[in-house]
Amino acid sequence: MPSSRAPSPKPLSGKIILVTGAGDGIGKSVSLAYARAGATVILLGRNQQKLEQVYDEIVSEQLCEPIIHPMDLASASVEDYELLGKSVKEQFGHLDGLLHNAGHLGTLGPMQYTPPETWMKIMQINVNAGFLLTRALMPALLSSSDARVLFTSSSVGRKGRAYWGAYAVSKFAVEGMMQVMADELQSISAIKVNSVNPGATRTPMRAAAYPAENPGSLPTPESLTPAYVFLMSDAAAHINGQAINIRELLEQVPSSV
Ligand SMILES: NC(=O)c1ccc[n+]([C@@H]2O[C@H](COP(=O)([O-])OP(=O)(O)OC[C@H]3O[C@@H](n4cnc5c(N)ncnc54)[C@H](OP(=O)(O)O)[C@@H]3O)[C@@H](O)[C@H]2O)c1
Repeated sequence: MPSSRAPSPKPLSGKIILVTGAGDGIGKSVSLAYARAGATVILLGRNQQKLEQVYDEIVSEQLCEPIIHPMDLASASVEDYELLGKSVKEQFGHLDGLLHNAGHLGTLGPMQYTPPETWMKIMQINVNAGFLLTRALMPALLSSSDARVLFTSSSVGRKGRAYWGAYAVSKFAVEGMMQVMADELQSISAIKVNSVNPGATRTPMRAAAYPAENPGSLPTPESLTPAYVFLMSDAAAHINGQAINIRELLEQVPSSV
């Protein structure tokens, strides 16, 4: 007998969500999951070809048509961010979700041997871009009745570890930015700000950090997506200012979210 129950509504229906680093790794899988959960996704990344592949995959599943926004966070100017903020506001009127996912690892090694230009590049992509993008998108986020900002941290951004240098320091800064923004915005807006640590995940970045590791031993980016969807959904509206471990959250979130 066919079930007469109506299909449950998708958890992100009608939401507009921007994902940085959407062309590969965790950002790609999460962008697909957001689209499957009903969101219109703005795919931001530096590699147009990779973004087009994600776009094609979303369109081939007849989901909400995404937007592609090629942008290199290492070299984008303040004006580039402001133009993006304006165009999101004009096109959609509001932004419901912002996932700062793009990240740059650099080269691991003793801090005193880190070339200054490597340090600056990591800070630009991992920290400054998060500030500039959130700032530029604030009018659109404030126009949402229930917006979320998610920063991406790491275990080395919560406890320092030798040889993780600028990457670790940048993730500590991300945690600080999250806490300051969450505290500031909670009394004046509906915006919730949190950080996530995905944990060791099978991606190009992880392979660069641990070249001798068997990638098959690691969880896939796809396996993390229910937690990322949950954090953008109405069910997570009470969570603010938290440093979240995606693995721990996955144990509490049903895989159908
Ligand atoms: N994988 C892990 O085990 C792990 C653990 C803890 C935290 N994280 C964090 O999780 C996030 C996602 O990591 P991942 O493992 O999925 O990394 P990934 O596979 O290297 O993907 C990172 C994405 O960010 C993009 N990106 C890098 N630099 C950029 C720039 N200058 N402008 C625009 N986009 C840029 C990359 O673009 P390209 O495709 O063009 O390179 C890529 O799409 C990062 O913030 C990372 O620090 C990952």
